[in-house]
Amino acid sequence: MCGIVGFTGITPAVPILLDGLERLEYRGYDSAGVAVVSPREGLQIQKCKGRLQVLRDKLDSQPPLTGTAGIGHTRWATHGEPNDVNSHPHVSQNGRVAIVHNGIIENYVEIKQFLLHKGVTFRSDTDSEVVAQLLEYCFNDHTDPLDAVYAVLERLEGAYALGILCADRPDMLIAARKDAPLLLGYGDGESFIASDATAIIAHTRDVAYMADGEVAVLTRAGIQVFDEYRRPVEKERHFIEWDVSAAEKGGYAHFMFKEIMEQPEALRRTISPRLREGQVAFDELAMTAEDVRRFRRIFIVACGSSYHVGMVGKYNLEKLMRTPVEVALASEFRYSAPLVGADDLVIVISQSGETLDTMAALREAKSLGARVLSIVNVVGSSIARESDDVLYTWAGPEIAVATTKAYSTQLALLTMLGLWMARCLGRVDSAEYAAIVSELEALPDKLAKVIASTDIYQYLASLYFNQQCIFYIGRNLDYALGLEGSLKLKEISYIHSESYAAGELKHGTISLIEPGSLVMSLATYAPLLDKAVSNIAEVRSRGADVVVLTTEEHAERMGSIASHVLTVPGTHPVLQPNLGVVPLQLFAYYVALHRGCDIDKPKNLAKSVTVE
Ligand code: AGP
Repeated sequence: MCGIVGFTGITPAVPILLDGLERLEYRGYDSAGVAVVSPREGLQIQKCKGRLQVLRDKLDSQPPLTGTAGIGHTRWATHGEPNDVNSHPHVSQNGRVAIVHNGIIENYVEIKQFLLHKGVTFRSDTDSEVVAQLLEYCFNDHTDPLDAVYAVLERLEGAYALGILCADRPDMLIAARKDAPLLLGYGDGESFIASDATAIIAHTRDVAYMADGEVAVLTRAGIQVFDEYRRPVEKERHFIEWDVSAAEKGGYAHFMFKEIMEQPEALRRTISPRLREGQVAFDELAMTAEDVRRFRRIFIVACGSSYHVGMVGKYNLEKLMRTPVEVALASEFRYSAPLVGADDLVIVISQSGETLDTMAALREAKSLGARVLSIVNVVGSSIARESDDVLYTWAGPEIAVATTKAYSTQLALLTMLGLWMARCLGRVDSAEYAAIVSELEALPDKLAKVIASTDIYQYLASLYFNQQCIFYIGRNLDYALGLEGSLKLKEISYIHSESYAAGELKHGTISLIEPGSLVMSLATYAPLLDKAVSNIAEVRSRGADVVVLTTEEHAERMGSIASHVLTVPGTHPVLQPNLGVVPLQLFAYYVALHRGCDIDKPKNLAKSVTVE
């Protein structure tokens, strides 16, 4: 939540900051602001409520802000409503420092009280402002900005990624990080900070990821990094593999649609390098077959759509490995005194690699002695760095708040992991192993077939975009799939939606079905098709319209009982959700389009949830 960008160099900072904020806007879009510092003008700030365009318009209507060092921020409000004053950057009382902050300062009330007693006047309702005010207060005892920053950090509790400008150091930018993402960018005569690489990729692909407790001093001459004890740190540099076009819409109306269409290619990147001579091969894993044989249980821990991947994973891993698998919401896991120990494997799933609850669950699992393997999209992210093993999904940057290609690649990778572990345990026979591998190879092409035509989804959306509520029902893997379909719909179209295990309907929920209700019946899981048919009959006889999602093979049978049928190619059952999810993504997309929703930036949401 919240996006930060910072720059120091020899060219004007504002255009670089605005370009960076545009690429970070998916992280939060309540308000935006920039601050620059110049030798003549000191600190200059512009910030306002609303989307980045509002800020651009304001800046266009005034003389340009001069300065070759600056910080920018796009906000997802936590403390204090979205308004101009609560927007970042925050400036200290006497204008000596400006800061941008991502995270939550948990002891801000205490610090605020302390400063109020010292006569400091506050302007905003935010927790973040205390950082600016405390920093200026610390300048009373410290003349060196870095001394003052360390004095402030000592007193802060909570999470922060900070960008700091000082009025009397127009060439310098200071950054600090604890439990919130921040990376450093190394340019030619210029240096950058950013919440993620998309913000600076147009200027440099040479980056380093800040670790907790680190402080960085950036000038145009380079970047110095210090650890929490102020010892110099030699950072490992990474080269970002993808280029700026990967983070642009490339002619598509929405990032979400672009990312749906990118799924065949994303899957190819995830799957192909890990298949060799008919075998799943994970060169990147330190975990051995011996380790796998030691695990008594597997836990899958994640949030949102990544959790839904875990729900599919539970069915698949238990089927393939015959090892008990428990799926937990990260936000619940950490507070449930989990019965996890040294003989357990905890699989953590996260697109961003920065979700705070997931990160906290990972730490909890590690402290209990479990081995942690993460499935992550963002290279170098906190979750990746703190895991014992990492499998990267290689989906490329995902910008739309509603995940699509990250979900698909997580799903494929988790199934591959299950297959690999099943083979380590000797619990999958060669014929089935070969059948799944062959279907993994075919998966990108089959998915390309699903997205080849979107007419049917547009048509169904035109029929049903005015529904008050849409139900998703399914059994086994189709139930897990429905959870994702329902979330996709509600997060971008704002239609209330529920997903049920179809067998549970008659234990209560069926009372909500009435003439005209829309039920999406997911019937791709071949072993339970007869059961799906009965559930469809139950809701049809109460007047519901039923859209059935099934495989091509069963289209005719389902066509005779449904209002409409959507089909996907058949594949091995463990991979079927990988194809089934795409029609649900497209249906949600077109419903939201019909309703005129802001698809890439749904209300109240942010892409990366770095607060509890
Ligand atoms: C799904 O479309 C959402 N963006 C959300 O549920 C997301 O999956 C969740 O916040 C977890 O994020 P992560 O994968 O980055 O940890």
